[in-house]
Amino acid sequence: MAETNPARYSFSGYPLCKLSLSFLFLTFLIVAATANDSGFPSSHTGKPHHSKKLTKPVVLLISSDGFRFGYQYKTDTPNIDLLISRGTEAKTGLIPVFPSMTFPNHNSIATGLYPAYHGIIMNKFTDPVTGELFKRNLDPKWWLGEPLWVTATNQGLKAATYFWPGADVHKGSWTCPKGFCKAPYNASVPLEERVDTILSYFDLPQSEVPDFMALYLEETDVQGHEYGPDDPRVTEAVAKIDKMISRVIKGLKKRKVFSDVHVILLGDHGMVTNCDKKVIYIDDLADWIKIPAEWIQDYSPVLVMNPRWGKDVKNPGEKNAEVVAKMNEALRSGKVENGEFLQVYLKEKLPERLHYSDSSRIPPIIGMVGEGLMVRQNRTNVQECFGDHGYDNMFFSMRSIFIGHGPRFRRGKKVPSFENVQIYNVVAEILGLRPAPNNGSSLFTRSLLMPTGETMQVK
Ligand SMILES: *[C@@H]1O[C@H](CO)[C@@H](O)[C@H](O)[C@H]1NC(C)=O
Ligand SMILES: *[C@@H]1O[C@H](CO)[C@@H](O)[C@H](O)[C@H]1NC(C)=O
Ligand SMILES: *[C@@H]1O[C@H](CO)[C@@H](O)[C@H](O)[C@H]1NC(C)=O
Ligand SMILES: *[C@@H]1O[C@H](CO)[C@@H](O)[C@H](O)[C@H]1NC(C)=O
Ligand SMILES: [Zn+2]
Repeated sequence: MAETNPARYSFSGYPLCKLSLSFLFLTFLIVAATANDSGFPSSHTGKPHHSKKLTKPVVLLISSDGFRFGYQYKTDTPNIDLLISRGTEAKTGLIPVFPSMTFPNHNSIATGLYPAYHGIIMNKFTDPVTGELFKRNLDPKWWLGEPLWVTATNQGLKAATYFWPGADVHKGSWTCPKGFCKAPYNASVPLEERVDTILSYFDLPQSEVPDFMALYLEETDVQGHEYGPDDPRVTEAVAKIDKMISRVIKGLKKRKVFSDVHVILLGDHGMVTNCDKKVIYIDDLADWIKIPAEWIQDYSPVLVMNPRWGKDVKNPGEKNAEVVAKMNEALRSGKVENGEFLQVYLKEKLPERLHYSDSSRIPPIIGMVGEGLMVRQNRTNVQECFGDHGYDNMFFSMRSIFIGHGPRFRRGKKVPSFENVQIYNVVAEILGLRPAPNNGSSLFTRSLLMPTGETMQVK
């Protein structure tokens, strides 16, 4: 990691720059959507009062990057609330995959695979076998899974993506067609423009309306990194996202398709405060073992190490095990500041629930960092507070939201938290697609979706 401050942004490109937008709260209050013409049963007849405009299932998947579970209570979010009250919500949030970073998670949502199997094991990493650097590469050799837009187009459906990480990779029948695949990511494109482009697809003749659409919004992640999750500017970002949901709802209602479209609102991970008092310094372990900076690919929120052993070392696996043992001895000694908040593993020995072993791309030594802690080489770094994610997906602060609204989602239903690898099967089921092999459970879709015949029935 040659970057000056690798901890500052979990990924240096996506979200890229600080957006210094100020939002007009009033506008957001005025545009708050009304539920009156939602198309849901509202009269005595108990029947939907809309005429079905779309006769095929359509899924609009919206990701609000870094939308931590609980952000929806920070401020008035009448439009998100409307989706929740008339749809199905993961009651205590959506569980990200480990590492709880942007690229691995967006790709797990899209493929239903854990990162070890879809290949995007971090936002940025060096393949220990080939030495090649992955950093937003578009070469399909990096992207091992089958994302929803590929499954859809392979099976004759149409797809559209707007800035979804990885959607500009050409795979199978998916060629990232101009007009339906907005890429590369450009933070300067206003969120309104992205929403309006998606809405414009509904003005096409029905046969040309994409069956699957994926939209990416970064506002909550950008502010969360910059100021930490408890900052008023994050509250503003949440209001901004709610405003975009209002725009989606209004636009769909105007086109009389709101009740026909499956709108899924989710996020890739949460956010937690990082501060200078909660740091583990690698150089503090020097009395037990000297760890050169060259061994370390990433410090935090995940410590990623690939020791460089010379050719004379016959058994590097044994040497790695020694490194892990020495480091843990130091960390448990009580003599290393915050040592108790770092646990180092050979990747094969990581807890199974992380599913983070079965890939040659994962470097041999992984350190699990305590919630909100940071790892640095030494004490020379600047001191500051900000927000980060990437930690153990067990931490509640890493959770995001899941809300599904539309014909196959039950109204006002709450489901327990689930991992985002389940979403691929859910979308495939709604669209009638044959899912590619994945790590979701086919039974799960039944707990989340109504069978086709039951759609739109009251209660
Ligand atoms: C919604 O409908 C109700 C009754 O039909 C009406 O009283 C109310 O003013 C409407 N709300 C809006 C915002 O249109
Ligand atoms: C990014 O978007 C802005 C605003 O639409 C535009 O002015 C700029 O040219 C775009 N940059 C690139 C590299 O496409
Ligand atoms: C501190 O660590 C950085 C690498 O993270 C290194 O470049 C720098 O030389 C180190 N400073 C000292 C005093 O060891
Ligand atoms: C995840 O799915 C892939 C593809 O089907 C499979 O090879 C792998 O064993 C699965 N892993 C787990 C942990 O279920
Ligand atoms: Zn993210």
